[in-house]
Order: sequence, then C-alpha cells, then structure tokens
Amino acid sequence: MAKEVRVGLVGCGTVGTGVARILLTEADLIEKKAGVRPVLVKVATRDWSKPRPFTVPERLRTTDWREVVESAEVVVELVGGTGVAAEVVKAALRAGKPVVTANKHLLAEHGRELAALAKEAGTVLLFEGAVGGGIPLVKVLKESLVSNEVEEILGILNGTTNFILTKMEEENLPFEEALRQAQEKGYAEADPTFDVEGVDAAHKIAILANLAFGGFVDFSRVFVEGIRGVELLDLRLGRELGYKLKLLAVAKRRPDGKVEVRVHPTFVPLSNPLSTVDGVYNGVLFKSNYLGRLKLQGAGAGAMPTATAVVQDVVQAAKWLAECGRAADLTPLGWDDGELEVADDFYTRYYLRLAVEDKPGVLYQIAKILAEEDISIAGVLQQEWILKFLPDRSEVVPLIILTHKAYESQIKRAISRIERLPFVRSAPVLIRVEEERF
Ligand SMILES: NC(=O)c1ccc[n+]([C@@H]2O[C@H](COP(=O)([O-])OP(=O)(O)OC[C@H]3O[C@@H](n4cnc5c(N)ncnc54)[C@H](OP(=O)(O)O)[C@@H]3O)[C@@H](O)[C@H]2O)c1
Repeated sequence: MAKEVRVGLVGCGTVGTGVARILLTEADLIEKKAGVRPVLVKVATRDWSKPRPFTVPERLRTTDWREVVESAEVVVELVGGTGVAAEVVKAALRAGKPVVTANKHLLAEHGRELAALAKEAGTVLLFEGAVGGGIPLVKVLKESLVSNEVEEILGILNGTTNFILTKMEEENLPFEEALRQAQEKGYAEADPTFDVEGVDAAHKIAILANLAFGGFVDFSRVFVEGIRGVELLDLRLGRELGYKLKLLAVAKRRPDGKVEVRVHPTFVPLSNPLSTVDGVYNGVLFKSNYLGRLKLQGAGAGAMPTATAVVQDVVQAAKWLAECGRAADLTPLGWDDGELEVADDFYTRYYLRLAVEDKPGVLYQIAKILAEEDISIAGVLQQEWILKFLPDRSEVVPLIILTHKAYESQIKRAISRIERLPFVRSAPVLIRVEEERF
C-alpha cells in the first residue's frame, strides 16, 4: 500500500472547496498515478454554515487554522490576501512543513521573505495555482525550461479583463457595460479593482519573472496600467490596423541585463497567437534560447482548474515526503537569491490617437516634435474610413500615429509637448504595440 501523507487545508472558498473535493474523491486515482496517497485530515474556514458546492465531512471541519497546521504534514493555504494567509504560511514553514498556496498577492509582495523562511526551515513553498490557474506555467519554467535561458514572457494573465475586452470588441459594448456583464456572470468581483487596474496580472508576471530570470522582482517597480480608460473607438481602429487589444503582461530580459516587467493594454498583431486567446481564457508565450517559442493556453481561474494545479503541488510535496522524509525543491530559481534590476523605462512601439482640428500644418508640427524627441514614425492615418467610427462629422478629427520602437520616457516627453499645441483638442490616447508576429 502507498504511503499516506496528511494534508491540511486552510480556506474553504471557491478554490479550497475544489481542492477538498479532488482530495476526497480522487485519492485512489492519485495513488495509482503517483504512488503516494494524500489524505485530507483537517479543513479550516471561518463559517461552516455557509452553503458550499461540496460538503466537507463534519469530522474534518474546524474554524481554527492552527489546528490544521498542527495536524498536517502538508499545509494548503487558500484564504487569499496578505493577512491571515501570511500567518498561516509562516507558521507552517516555521514548523518545517511544505506549504502549497495559490496566493499571488502574498507571493508577489512577500515572496522573498517567505522563500527565505522555507529555505531556513528546510522545506518548500509551492504555488502552481497562483499564476494562470490550471495552466502549468510554474512547472514549465522550473522544469521544462531548466536548461534554457528565458528571454521573454508575454501573457494574458487575467481572465476578467480578457472577458471584458472580448465583450467590448465583439459586441461593441462600452467598458462599464462589459464590466457589468462580467460581474453578472461571476467573472468579476463586486470590487473589481485588482483585476481592472491590472494589479492581479502584475502580481502574476512578477512571480513568472522571478522564476524566469533567477532573481527577485521588487513589486513596487512593476509598471501597471489597467483597462478602465480603454475606449471602444481604439478597439475598432486597432482592428482595422490588424491588431487586437489585450491586457498584456510582459517580462523581458534586455541586452543590458535589466528586466522589463510591465502590464498595460497592448495592441497585439492578429498574427500573434495571443490575439486569439479570448473570453476568460489565459494564454502565455515563452521565448527561450533553445526551445524557441512555446504557447500555453487554458483556464486561468475557476474552482476546479485552479484546484487541479494546487493538488499537483500537494502530490509533489507528498512524494518528496514519502521518498526522502522531507520536501526539498532543488530549483527555487531566484526566489531567495539577489534582486533583479527592473528597468525604469521600457522600449516598445506606440499607437497615439490625437483629436486635432482639421486644418493644414497639423501633421507637420506633430511630426516635428516626434523627430525632436528622436521618435521615428512608422505610419500615420487620417483617412476617410476613420470618420465612419465617429458619432458626427465634427471639426475635430482623429489622427493616428504608429511609431517605431522608442523609450517610454521619449514618448511621454513628446506627448506633454504635443498636448500643449493649440489645435490638439483633448488628451492624447497612448497604447503600446507589441510587434511580435508569428
Ligand atoms: N478563485 C479563483 O479562480 C482563483 C484562481 C487562482 C488563484 N486564486 C487564489 O486562491 C486563493 C483563494 O481564492 P478563492 O477564490 O478560493 O477565495 P474565497 O472564495 O474568498 O475563499 C477564501 C476562504 O478563506 C476563508 N477564510 C477567510 N479567513 C479565514 C480564517 N481566518 N481562517 C480560516 N479560513 C478563512 C473563507 O472562509 P468563509 O467561507 O468561511 O468565510 C473562504 O472560505 C486566493 O489567494 C486567490 O488569489 C483564486
């Protein structure tokens, strides 16, 4: 008979209930496939009277997370946030017990401290469910690409914002209406700030950058811009130009050794495979020196996909305990080493939409400013077809400029000069353009 390993679960909400369900119903399958049997021995949540889609047997229930930490050999934290969750994770690590979590917020902001604690205690912190829900992104970075230098990661890492942008594009809905539909379907929280403002995707790309580049990313240095300001007009114009708008999370290693870690609405060429990742799905492209490009796509959130990833880690920790008597991760990849140097500025292409008076000389003066800031123009559009997207044929017309690659600081300087020109009628719209085509 396979060795049994005691597993405790703190947090029995969306994902926690899914984990309890898999561990309690699939133990035989896991034992057959993995040669070890994780046994759920205790589950803590605040209020057991709340209805849950899976009933946890009475004998396993508690409201005190400390009981879970005491009774288990592997501790699963699925509370979320940085309060109680941090207490649970620290207590378990200090007791030398492997911890499995899906808490990207905690990892992105306190991962370095927690990884150091795990190392000191001779145990592990596993977090496959924290990034990309059920998509095995952490496993790919830690295992499949162990022999490769990762050069770049492009990801659609937040299903809520991807759903909103897809709705806006496919049904011509304004942002607020698309958000309302996301909330109605349960894809967006009542308070959608973390998703909509790009913070959730930023937490995830910071974690992936840590793993990919072998160092720690100071989360406060990650550039974050959400989708609240996205206008339908730009989605439509982008489509005409051969792009789709996505909230893209980017992590790139630059030739100067610095890393760019950023999240912002981005025009992605229709020939890039991420352009077809729609709705609540997540998708990620890895670029590495020997493997080249690798795309992974799947359910980036949700109870059972995320629970699948969490259980993968539980089984891994259980196998280590069964085989060696302790859990030891030989490839922490950057979690407890030095700090990565995050670039202040980044280098990309831009789409600039200006509302200008329709008169001669306008383009000349704008082009002059861009040239003075050393920004090269890739294309200018002020054609009849743009007018069909406007509610009325006013005196003010949109002028679209696509640039070649430039530093963000250059384009910001140019914009601050352009918006002071007397014929520019409203604040320019700036959208970054990803040029990676396949
Ligand atoms: N939902 C997803 O699709 C998804 C995807 C990827 C990662 N994650 C991550 O997974 C984690 C859990 O997310 P979730 O969506 O499952 O959250 P959730 O539905 O809000 O569940 C959180 C659970 O924690 C429990 N809890 C709160 N304080 C507690 C305490 N002091 N002691 C014991 N239990 C306590 C709550 O108990 P009560 O129910 O009794 O109030 C609730 O059951 C988060 O870090 C989240 O970022 C979620």
